[in-house]
Amino acid sequence: LTLCARATAYSSSANLGPGYDVLALAHTAFQDRVEACIARAGGERRVEIVSVEGPEAERSGGAATAGRAVEELLGLAGVHARVELRVWKGIPPGRGLGSSGATAAAAVAAVSRLIGVEDASLLLEAAGRGEAVAAGQPHYDNVAASLQGGLVAVAPLSGRPVAARIPLRGDLHVALLVPEPYRVEGKTRLMRSVLPGSVPLQVAARNYGRSLLLVAAACSGSLRLLGEALMGDEIVEPARAPLIPCLEPVRRAALEAGAYGATISGAGPSIIAVAGSRLEAERAGRAMLEAYSGCGSARSIVAVPAPGALESVEVYG
Ligand code: HSE
Repeated sequence: LTLCARATAYSSSANLGPGYDVLALAHTAFQDRVEACIARAGGERRVEIVSVEGPEAERSGGAATAGRAVEELLGLAGVHARVELRVWKGIPPGRGLGSSGATAAAAVAAVSRLIGVEDASLLLEAAGRGEAVAAGQPHYDNVAASLQGGLVAVAPLSGRPVAARIPLRGDLHVALLVPEPYRVEGKTRLMRSVLPGSVPLQVAARNYGRSLLLVAAACSGSLRLLGEALMGDEIVEPARAPLIPCLEPVRRAALEAGAYGATISGAGPSIIAVAGSRLEAERAGRAMLEAYSGCGSARSIVAVPAPGALESVEVYG
């Protein structure tokens, strides 16, 4: 007997300035889909990626994060089963858009329903461990956003990753400047290797204060405060900025076009700007693209907060 489920996971922008590794926003810019079929034969635990299709299939390294995430999920849940995965990759990898995390999130969401596991922290753990295949070490921000949707905060509590969705008020739109990457393989690893190992307490306090202001602004719908807080990172963005082509001119162009704030999307090289309507976001996107024109090839995309993979699961078979 075979039972199948499919799930959709959206792209995401992690960090949002001061929220390194703890904040991320899922957005409708791109999506991945995973179909999982399970033969509940007991015995051997096996996960097989049967096919990888879609516009980003070739560059996405065989969607290894999906396979690893499902192995972790079966292991954590103590389930012995054979699972087949069919992956559709629409999120370009290596751009700071949570591509590998989304594949892991979609796979975990689909399989969780087939094996009847609902423990949110366990699902997050499995997806994060899967994502670590791509990033080198587990960090849960992208997977949390892709699993739960919208804006999420994530942090370990009692040794387990815990994520919570932050209610968003206002008509939040984002404009994404998505460059052709200079490097896909090992990009996140490289971008993490340039970060300081420790920071003075006062700097850390200012940074987490701003990430909290960002959260408060999201809840109250104050996009102006959200944009300002987003640009207040003193730790990660300054270390990475030299590796993000044309960050400053692109940001300036976005702000001049009316965006409330702009920063690196995840580990880059994409840049995310925050706006209050589709029209404003389109204007910011055009300005960002123009400012980037001497820096390489890129495209701009307007998006809104996306639903989570866990909400998208359909079971059939
Ligand atoms: N928080 C992570 C980082 C996201 O900035 O390294 C990258 O996927």
